Amino acid sequence: MISKLKIGLFGFGCVGQGLYDVLSKSSGIKADIVKICVKDRNKSRKLPMEYFTYDKNEILNNSEINIVVELIDDADEAFNIVKAAMISGKSVVTANKKMVANHLTELVELQTKYNVSLLYEASSCGSIPIIRTLEEYYDNELLYSVSGIFNGSSNYILSKIFNENLDYGTALKQAQELGFAESNPILDVGGFDAKYKLTIIAAHAYGLFIHPDDILNLGIQNLSTTDIDYARKAGKKIKLLNVVRKLNDDEITVHTMPTFVAPHQYLYFVENEYNGVIVEAAFSDKQFYLGKGAGGHPTGSAVLSDISAVTYDYKYAYHKASQDKKLFYSKNVLLELYVRYTNKDELNLLGKAAITEQGSGYVICTVKLENLLKNNTALQNSSLFIANTGRTVSGTDVKETALEKAENS
Ligand SMILES: NC(=O)c1ccc[n+]([C@@H]2O[C@H](COP(=O)([O-])OP(=O)(O)OC[C@H]3O[C@@H](n4cnc5c(N)ncnc54)[C@H](OP(=O)(O)O)[C@@H]3O)[C@@H](O)[C@H]2O)c1
Repeated sequence: MISKLKIGLFGFGCVGQGLYDVLSKSSGIKADIVKICVKDRNKSRKLPMEYFTYDKNEILNNSEINIVVELIDDADEAFNIVKAAMISGKSVVTANKKMVANHLTELVELQTKYNVSLLYEASSCGSIPIIRTLEEYYDNELLYSVSGIFNGSSNYILSKIFNENLDYGTALKQAQELGFAESNPILDVGGFDAKYKLTIIAAHAYGLFIHPDDILNLGIQNLSTTDIDYARKAGKKIKLLNVVRKLNDDEITVHTMPTFVAPHQYLYFVENEYNGVIVEAAFSDKQFYLGKGAGGHPTGSAVLSDISAVTYDYKYAYHKASQDKKLFYSKNVLLELYVRYTNKDELNLLGKAAITEQGSGYVICTVKLENLLKNNTALQNSSLFIANTGRTVSGTDVKETALEKAENS
């Protein structure tokens, strides 16, 4: 039990300032910010300058500081800071999903080796306490799936497009001005940010530590009016969805991609910067969590909750990873997709595919997840817009090729 936390804070941007506000108004917690490390020497700050440093070692080497709160927007430097802090015996709270997802195995080893806490509730779904819920509440329950909208800024953009007819560029600019979007927008709209969160959720839901490079992420960056009209005609919206689901007793699968969502689904009504998470389980059945997934105060509140948990020495136990029954990640899964193209040759990037419908500039087809994953970077860089139809396809074999069928018709 730590009686008084002395915080070394890294980053004083959207979330760092959000945390400062939340902490100042929370009288119950005994925690003081001792020093704040930032980068830009020319920025004016809303706190006295004696709080700030530009030298990370002023925090890392300060023995009075017993907790490091890492809220910077540079994942590589964040890992250096977090690693050094843990090695020097300081507990760490971070919101950096990219850093956690890329280094989860090593971070868990550091937590054990140096007997410190590493908590990152704010890294996934902002103010929804999904990590601790999976870790503690569902520690033994058999989960069928965890799915939902995990990226506030792309959801904000899609909401503005579908509900207010804003164009993509204007909606993205608004999301950035409101502090919902990452400094580099492709992280959000390309589905990378959502995928990093999904990596973390898969570890806590199923005990599987999958590297993010091994998870498919497709984004909304190529969304056009054709796709919006197609969805509207079907009475649906397009949402960027994360899915991790159990296929059978031994296997799970996982992916991030735009998906058509109908009005009878909870996620249809998750709008703007809100996130929505659906947990389906054998005994508790279906549960739906809704909350703000971005913004300084909602994210700051998740950081505060982790800081509070450090006061009672809370650590993630990764319960599912230590269970006897081990699960495997399968990519041998069929997905039914809507694919809109401007250059038909780019359909080759889907690999073998069975077309069930062809329209003007688009196809509906069934493809294998493993083929999409092989071409993930090329698909990201192509002009294709790809969305999961949301319909389940059974089996594991694709019988026809997309191009044969397209060329024969
Ligand atoms: N924004 C959200 O809604 C949200 C939600 C969930 C999680 N997150 C995560 O929270 C973290 C922070 O995001 P943010 O939106 O607060 O970013 P931000 O507004 O861009 O602020 C980034 C802060 O990091 C500082 N910084 C960057 N590199 C640094 C370095 N090498 N050393 C010290 N300080 C450095 C910057 O310093 P200067 O002030 O000097 O520029 C700035 O204060 C990210 O990992 C992000 O993914 C954000």
